[in-house]
Amino acid sequence: MQFNLAAKDPHSKARAGTITTDHGQIQTPIFMPVGTLATVKGVHQRELTEEIDPDIILGNTYHLYLRPQIDILEKAGGLHKFMNWDRNILTDSGGYQVYSLSANRKIKEEGVKFKSHIDGSYHVFTPENVMDIQRSIGADIIMAFDECTPYPCDYDYAKRSMHMTHRWLDRCLNRLEEVPYKYDYSQTFFPIVQGSTYKDLRKQSAEYIASVGAEGNAIGGLSVGEPAEEMYAMTEVVCEVLPEDKPRYLMGVGTPINILENIALGIDMFDCVMPTRNGRNGMLFTAHGTINIKNKKWEDDFSPIDEMGITWVDTAYSKAYLRHLFSVGEMLGRQIASIHNLGFYLWLVREARKHILAGDFASWKDQMVRQMNQRL
Ligand code: GUN
Repeated sequence: MQFNLAAKDPHSKARAGTITTDHGQIQTPIFMPVGTLATVKGVHQRELTEEIDPDIILGNTYHLYLRPQIDILEKAGGLHKFMNWDRNILTDSGGYQVYSLSANRKIKEEGVKFKSHIDGSYHVFTPENVMDIQRSIGADIIMAFDECTPYPCDYDYAKRSMHMTHRWLDRCLNRLEEVPYKYDYSQTFFPIVQGSTYKDLRKQSAEYIASVGAEGNAIGGLSVGEPAEEMYAMTEVVCEVLPEDKPRYLMGVGTPINILENIALGIDMFDCVMPTRNGRNGMLFTAHGTINIKNKKWEDDFSPIDEMGITWVDTAYSKAYLRHLFSVGEMLGRQIASIHNLGFYLWLVREARKHILAGDFASWKDQMVRQMNQRL
């Protein structure tokens, strides 16, 4: 993998760059649509590639390991072939899902024993087997196995957990050295900074993560319920330590406003379920604020979903029609909202990139944040 920085914004820490892997280029800043179960929920590949057009999407080790299971993915020749996606994929390690989804889990130095949220069966994730599983899934970027601490988290727990995540990182790296790529393209590994909401722990963790010299670095344990200001404070501390010439990925973030604020602090990559999950609940993100399309006020509003027309659904359908689909529970409503929201998120990061390249990102960001901070 290669990362080339194309520009830095003169009035913030924002950067524009290009990541190159065997599955093509990723222009940064980037938002990665979440495709947990080998599908970006409700969106066909044709709309994903032609309308939304992300350079990379995300998959989840935890979910894919449980279903369809790893032997099926191996037989398919990896996740790209299985889901017919020839651009980049990043897989999360399960270091978050195992804590947020499984019913019972026991965290020990060796790894995590957990109960499947599907059928109650017991499984164990260790840094070693999670690396093997991610080799079999075959994403272009694979993540370290970590512990994502909850919020709030007491200092002692956060510190002990952070050190364990660091020890697990060493085990991940050893395993990757032993086990080569499974398919005919290379994979890149990103370690993850933890440390909860404690600046000293965040700094210490970022120093450790930077010391292993990975090709890219991630920040975890944020957007877990803390106020946005605390998230930004942590991102700032960590970005001061992480190397400038490597991409920085902020995991699980966030709202359009969170994304712009974190780009301004030096983040290059994002993922979040919000555009699809909130979309399925009738929430639309636009450049002028959020819309709850289920609201009665849209009942006879025949104006386009979004006059900007970023994706074709925005001008093909009216707000009144989309509201109707939601009120009668038609699946097309959820699909349209997902396409609209993902199209908007990708537009937002592409615009951010343009403004970084033009040198006026900071003032554009402030104006967008004001605009988007409204309910329509
Ligand atoms: N997704 C969101 N936050 C996290 C995190 O802390 N760790 C991992 N592995 N994935 C995440």
